[in-house]
Amino acid sequence: MAKVFVTRKLPGGALDRIRQAGYGLEVWEGFCSPDRDTMLAKVAGVSGLITLLEDRIDAEVMDAAGPSLKVIAQYAVGVDNIDLQAARARGIRVTNTPGVLTDATADLAFALLAATARRVVEGHDYVRNGEWRCWHPELLLGPELHGATVLVVGFGRIGQAFAKRARGFDMTVLYTSRRERPEAKALGARRISLEEGLARADFVSLHVPLTPETHHLIDEAAFRRMKPGALLINTARGKVVKTQALVEALKAGHLGGAGLDVTDPEPLPPDHRLLHFPNVIVTPHVGSAGRATRVRMAEMVVDDLLAVLSGNEPENPVI
Ligand code: NAP
Ligand code: GLV
Ligand code: GLV
Repeated sequence: MAKVFVTRKLPGGALDRIRQAGYGLEVWEGFCSPDRDTMLAKVAGVSGLITLLEDRIDAEVMDAAGPSLKVIAQYAVGVDNIDLQAARARGIRVTNTPGVLTDATADLAFALLAATARRVVEGHDYVRNGEWRCWHPELLLGPELHGATVLVVGFGRIGQAFAKRARGFDMTVLYTSRRERPEAKALGARRISLEEGLARADFVSLHVPLTPETHHLIDEAAFRRMKPGALLINTARGKVVKTQALVEALKAGHLGGAGLDVTDPEPLPPDHRLLHFPNVIVTPHVGSAGRATRVRMAEMVVDDLLAVLSGNEPENPVI
């Protein structure tokens, strides 16, 4: 019987369909990824894998699975944890979950922007720490959301959904892209170079995938170009930002604050320097964590895994 290994329990009932379709199913019960040796042992002889963004799926894992492996269905839209070249060389299909998580992730990016600008977490801490004694005209002032200029870096699905939210808040929306995007017109967004956009924006929100081209896209030079007091929002991938440069820009007081759902390293240790800045908010990579979204993502990975295993074309092929 062909076997499938799933690296975590998924919300909803989608995984039941794998067994119902006649496949052997093993689901890792741990809260975190299996350690490397366990992963290499568990994948041996499987035909399909359902993976999460923290599972490093490289040639070694593929070879440990062996020639039976036909499909890696990733429970995420980003696939930077999977060695696509190695998969291609072995004729393994890779699928992901685009689209279904777009709005949930754009919502979180906007929540981080609003919370960072209007200092929601600092305000909460202020109250909780018993510091709230009176109303004061200069207490916890921050930049205005309405009327601000935001630069959307990467104008794909999530970048565009974020732009729509920004327009709803009466912001001027600029975007960077390797090509002109016709969708921009309806969204009232204007294309600009990264250099110029960084110099103009009050807020910069990152929505590119992590690739060799986007690795450390936001480095010392990028921070220097940003306006004093600007805010950085990252819901893309931690490594799109050079952490050392981010820390320096915050330390110098040049950057006004950061709202980060993704970090480098990830997870971020509780004693990390980034967490010493009151104007930095960090969430634990929960961009797509809407309840319904996560159930639909599970249905998508199972649909595509079963499609490939039964010799059909998956709906969301990466390769
Ligand atoms: P998408 O539709 O593919 O959009 C990404 C855009 O980035 C593309 O349209 C592309 O636009 C641009 N881009 C710039 N440089 C690129 C490069 N070197 N290679 C490919 N594209 C490049 O993806 P999406 O669904 O919006 O997701 C974007 C990323 O968000 C994912 O890859 C993932 O890393 C991250 N994400 C995070 C969370 C979270 O939980 N925080 C949740 C979902 C997704 P041009 O071709 O016009 O340049
Ligand atoms: C989450 O980070 C994703 O890429 O779906
Ligand atoms: C503030 O609460 C106000 O009434 O202006």
